[in-house]
Amino acid sequence: MRATGASIARAAALLRSGGVVAFPTETVYGLGALAFDAAAVARVFEIKGRPEFDPLIVHVLDDAMLAGIASEIDPRARLLIDRFWPGGLTLVLPKHAAVPGLVTAGLPSVAVRCPAHPVARALLAAAGAPIAAPSANPFGALSPTRAEHVEAGLGRSVDLILDGGRSTLGLESTIVALDPHPQLLRPGAVPVEAIEAEIGALSRVAEGPVRAPGGLPVHYAPRTPLRIVDPEGVGLEERGRAGALLFHRNREGYAATRVLSASGDLREAAAAFFDALHSLDALGLERIDAEPPPPHGLGLAMIDRLTRAAARR
Ligand code: TXA
Ligand code: MG
Repeated sequence: MRATGASIARAAALLRSGGVVAFPTETVYGLGALAFDAAAVARVFEIKGRPEFDPLIVHVLDDAMLAGIASEIDPRARLLIDRFWPGGLTLVLPKHAAVPGLVTAGLPSVAVRCPAHPVARALLAAAGAPIAAPSANPFGALSPTRAEHVEAGLGRSVDLILDGGRSTLGLESTIVALDPHPQLLRPGAVPVEAIEAEIGALSRVAEGPVRAPGGLPVHYAPRTPLRIVDPEGVGLEERGRAGALLFHRNREGYAATRVLSASGDLREAAAAFFDALHSLDALGLERIDAEPPPPHGLGLAMIDRLTRAAARR
């Protein structure tokens, strides 16, 4: 349903009565329930087919909502909040006792993000409470950057899907934990370099199912087998029944191609990334050849997602 004042009010009313609503954010679409409503949060896990050891991100409108979710904001967290919120950064902070254990999978910490998307903000304001939301895709599948992706993946099990157009950043948030020292749990919409410019070096954690299950080895995967490859090395005879996800230059001979940014711009490429994968995946191709983007900034986040997509079986 197109996001309007009326549909946002209806979505907020559904949330307040225990409903589950999909909504746009600038990173990807989220599948939300009120964070303090454990029964509604349980439905989110059920709809996504998500294991309960994989905690959710809680979305807040402002500092007042943050205060109800995190028990402590250390000075480095404050620096990052001032610099990057609202936006594509998620912080892992000590959890407030009131947050249901289901939201955090029993961890003493909670992941929090303050989205910039006007529809997400209007929904938070209308609901008047924090919203726990994973990406609105079946567990392990490609993340949704359009309402149509949510519809195709989760369809009628969701009470309402707010359509706010295509997500402008197009990659999930960057996740940073600060305790016991600053760590990158997932590269994403905010380039790591920008975060390190504020608080110094982040250690790269070998992500495990509990620390950051976006870190599960197989994740963000299309149904079509995908490999990461330099298309220059792929012979013409090998291209015919495959599709290619290309960073900036098109190639001949593939059954279908998607060029992420003709000018080689990483932000434009990130915004088109999941959209391009969804559309290639819908073509029933034998394989997708993905050309790796350059390994810095948002390129790192895309390489991370491609590596997990390629790990599928
Ligand atoms: O951009 C995004 O982050 C989107 C939008 C909807 O906000 N959400 C999203 O959520 O990508 P999800 O559930 O697909 O990914 C959340 C990641 C998971 O890898 C989860 O393990 C990690 O955050 N996470 C959540 N709570 C955590 C915690 N307390 N400690 C470490 N990792 C946590
Ligand atoms: Mg996800």
